[in-house]
Amino acid sequence: MQQIPYGRQSIDEDDIRAVNEVLNSDWLTTGPKVDEFERSICNYCGCQHAIAVNSGTSALDIAIQSLELPKGTEVVTTPFTFAATSNALLYNGLVPIYADISKDTRNIDPKDIRKKITNKTGAILFVDFAGQPCDITEIQKICCEYDLFIIEDACHALGAAYQGKKIGSLADMTIFSFHPVKLITTGEGGMVTTNDSNRADSLRLLRSHGIDKTAHHLSDTSAPWAYDMVTLGRNYRMTDIQAALGISQAKKIDAFVQKRTKLSQLYNELLQDIPHIELPVTLENVTHAWHLYTIFLKGIKRDTVFSYLKSHNIGVNLHYIPTYHFSYYKKHHSQDFSLFPVTEDVFNRILTLPLYSELKEVDVHLIVDTLKKAIQQIS
Ligand SMILES: Cc1ncc(COP(=O)(O)O)c(C=O)c1O
Repeated sequence: MQQIPYGRQSIDEDDIRAVNEVLNSDWLTTGPKVDEFERSICNYCGCQHAIAVNSGTSALDIAIQSLELPKGTEVVTTPFTFAATSNALLYNGLVPIYADISKDTRNIDPKDIRKKITNKTGAILFVDFAGQPCDITEIQKICCEYDLFIIEDACHALGAAYQGKKIGSLADMTIFSFHPVKLITTGEGGMVTTNDSNRADSLRLLRSHGIDKTAHHLSDTSAPWAYDMVTLGRNYRMTDIQAALGISQAKKIDAFVQKRTKLSQLYNELLQDIPHIELPVTLENVTHAWHLYTIFLKGIKRDTVFSYLKSHNIGVNLHYIPTYHFSYYKKHHSQDFSLFPVTEDVFNRILTLPLYSELKEVDVHLIVDTLKKAIQQIS
């Protein structure tokens, strides 16, 4: 039997046609499709500007770079995320300061954020774990009080909403990823959204070498070929091939969220009375995008259940190993693990079950039956 993966893309004939059209066109990159994809995400999220790049990691990197914070500035963030979140701070000479998470949502705990703020703090970088938005009102309050930037790593949360507002315009900058396991995909890809037009201009420069094609005057010549490099940027550009796939996929954001929500509800129903399992909690004031479906195990060894499911072709996963556990972080940003009791407890008990929009209900039944058998055999 083939393994059921924990996540995968959903590609249909429209997506293939969209990509083929670009392959037959004049523009494989820096063409019109990137603008069109950016506009479609702005329309969906209700934000002013969107800057497409070649990964969520690149999006995080230029977002942090655009803040121009002095080296050594502290940024309060969550350890319970993919390494890319904190790495973006390190690329830019900033210092990740971890706050503990809340057990129910696995999101950064605003009460612990407050405890971590010092006179060196410049920003808060939070992650909407699994697609459930953080307590954004509380984080906004803290940022106003201490005059901090807010960056939302919403790589899991395209399609999610907080108090009825779509994720994408609630922070100074919001980051999305279009990796194949995410809600929509461009193969690899990412985006920064913002309502600040000056920031959008800097993000556009930073994604493409820092080159300003309109800045003829700065290059000391009025020649028609003149352009200037005004800041140290990178080549993080998205191709038109990727953008065409993104435009086609973006039409299906709500449909994908609905499918994932339905499957998560089915998991909740089937798992509710099974001993040793705690279900994920969804808060009242949010629309959850259900990037991941994660459960907690109690009174039973998570790793034994994990291995049992893997050996029965169920592609379980673990999101996440706290960032401060990695050897690089131990070497350069060593942390006392006991400062993060909730993160440690969640890390020891959490398990990700397969979830993607093409997962079949019959597969959910099979996964739950296999999980029940694992628990019976192990407990
Ligand atoms: C929370 C989070 N941030 C950032 C990233 C990086 O995105 P990408 O893989 O597109 O570089 C990911 C990817 O898994 C992620 O889950």
